[in-house]
Amino acid sequence: MKKLIATVTTVLIYCTPHSIQASDTEAMVNVYGRTTTSLNGFWNALPDYINSGHYRRVWEEKTPASKTDFYEYSFDGTPKIAVPGDFNSQLDQMKYSEGTVWYKHTFNHDADSRRERTFLYFGAVNYMAEVYLNGELIGQHEGGFTPFQFEVTDRLRPGDNTLIVMADNRRRSDGLPGEAFDWFGYGGITRDVMLVHTPGTFVDDYFIRLDPEGNICGDIHLDGNPSDVTVSIPELRLKKTIQAGSDSIKFTTNKKPQRWSPANPKLYHVEIICEGDTIRDRIGFRDIRTDGDKILLNGEPIFVKAVNIHEETLGNPARAFSREHAIKMLSYAKDLGCNMVRLAHYPHNEHTVRLAEEMGLMVWDEIPVYQSIQFTAPGVEEKIHSMMHEMVRRDKNRCAVTVWSLSNETWPSTPGRTDVLTPLTGACRQLDDTRLITHVINTQHYTDNVMHMNDPLYDACDLLCINEYVGWYIPWQGEPEQMQWDLPSGKPLFISEFGGEAKYGSNFGPKDSAGYWSEEFQADIYRKQIRMFDATQNLAGVCPWILFDYLSLGRMHPVYQGGYNRKGLVDEYGKKKQAYGIMKDYYSRK
Ligand code: GCU
Repeated sequence: MKKLIATVTTVLIYCTPHSIQASDTEAMVNVYGRTTTSLNGFWNALPDYINSGHYRRVWEEKTPASKTDFYEYSFDGTPKIAVPGDFNSQLDQMKYSEGTVWYKHTFNHDADSRRERTFLYFGAVNYMAEVYLNGELIGQHEGGFTPFQFEVTDRLRPGDNTLIVMADNRRRSDGLPGEAFDWFGYGGITRDVMLVHTPGTFVDDYFIRLDPEGNICGDIHLDGNPSDVTVSIPELRLKKTIQAGSDSIKFTTNKKPQRWSPANPKLYHVEIICEGDTIRDRIGFRDIRTDGDKILLNGEPIFVKAVNIHEETLGNPARAFSREHAIKMLSYAKDLGCNMVRLAHYPHNEHTVRLAEEMGLMVWDEIPVYQSIQFTAPGVEEKIHSMMHEMVRRDKNRCAVTVWSLSNETWPSTPGRTDVLTPLTGACRQLDDTRLITHVINTQHYTDNVMHMNDPLYDACDLLCINEYVGWYIPWQGEPEQMQWDLPSGKPLFISEFGGEAKYGSNFGPKDSAGYWSEEFQADIYRKQIRMFDATQNLAGVCPWILFDYLSLGRMHPVYQGGYNRKGLVDEYGKKKQAYGIMKDYYSRK
């Protein structure tokens, strides 16, 4: 029963700084550096339009035993769809639906090749998941964008094993995100699934980083018995053995590595060895902090040239999940001249984060605490903390991740909002004080060409982020270069969203009217925004919304939108709009 712990019911674990603990479903870090058996492939998919699968107990897979028996479901005869992959883009009947699909997959487990322990790992299932192995419920998970695992050592049998997974992407008022969100909530088993094989004692978590003096230090956590641990970074001639003591190990060194930066995305091969287990990773080291209204990367001021991205494939809308998808998307960001990608509005797949790091792109990681969250509904605060933990746990060794973003566009008038999000920020800082932590805010008032920013949540933030959309949702109230900023002092100002919509090639009506979605109108917004940026003293960075047009069914204009949010600098097929070139020129001179 120990493993029957859903994220929802996970007790909050507030760690002392940098100590590592996890709930029972939190996944071990760096599964890609371990011995695994992939369970990706084509799985049977049984759509359950009215959610009757629980009533029918489909995981029991009953078949008639007598002439009078019948069961009104079966996995035989269902289509097979790719895992990873969302069900909406693969099942015509689910194209725009939110609902439940039951998946089934049978795999062979070769007892001889087993190591001592085996975990069943899911990179993500959107949104609610229930997992049955050989007819028994082994666990549940809530949350569509973070990994989870269950230990199945004693549950696997030699030979064939059957997995049945429920994936339910219906929006929920107490969900994260809640009922309203401006993207398409692709459902299903959207990321890699694998068995992870480990010895009895293994390194389940580590956090290797720089201490405040710039020396390499770290925390290592073992699952199993205390064991000596050796950390080595051959290129730095670092080899350090820490004597067995407990399952939580700390170490310090006097090694000062080269720093990672967008110009020099240096990564080191790192090996962590404990009795019987060796795990390898490539880790970089950098220092990011603020000094007054500046962002300093490795001690030097940096202007952040970012772009927002949703995790959606180009050409044929689907949830992106692979390194190949990431190469396509991030190549546009590089070409645009970016040094950061904001992975909106939820943690994207691990391949994207790792690739961005290799390519010299800083990463902004965010949890889907988006707009209308019911902060005071039972369980919601716990879910927010769990999601934050799961994101930080997975990505904390990626030095490219320089910002943890803990919410987007929430409002002080929503009951519980500031009371929940302020301590959340503290809890995140306790887990990791080596990054900037922020919330994205849009509660400003723009009057007489003055932008007033005074949200109570800014106190908790390292960056003053604002989604402003001047020129699109609100008209300019004066010349862009005369815009004044009324904001809390002493922190960097970061424009986390701005932009406007255009349909690629739109040629329908007057180019100076928003209502015709012309590229020219969008380009003009960008020209004016850039005039404003140039005149804004101490602006620390900007981040257009968004790199690509993306599916969002609330965007209902049949001619111009057709279910797409058209604020992309590039359309959904990869064609660049005029505004792309304008933004690229701006970034090339910054
Ligand atoms: C918001 C939000 C985005 C949204 C965008 C828009 O501010 O953060 O998720 O899609 O505005 O209106 O296009």
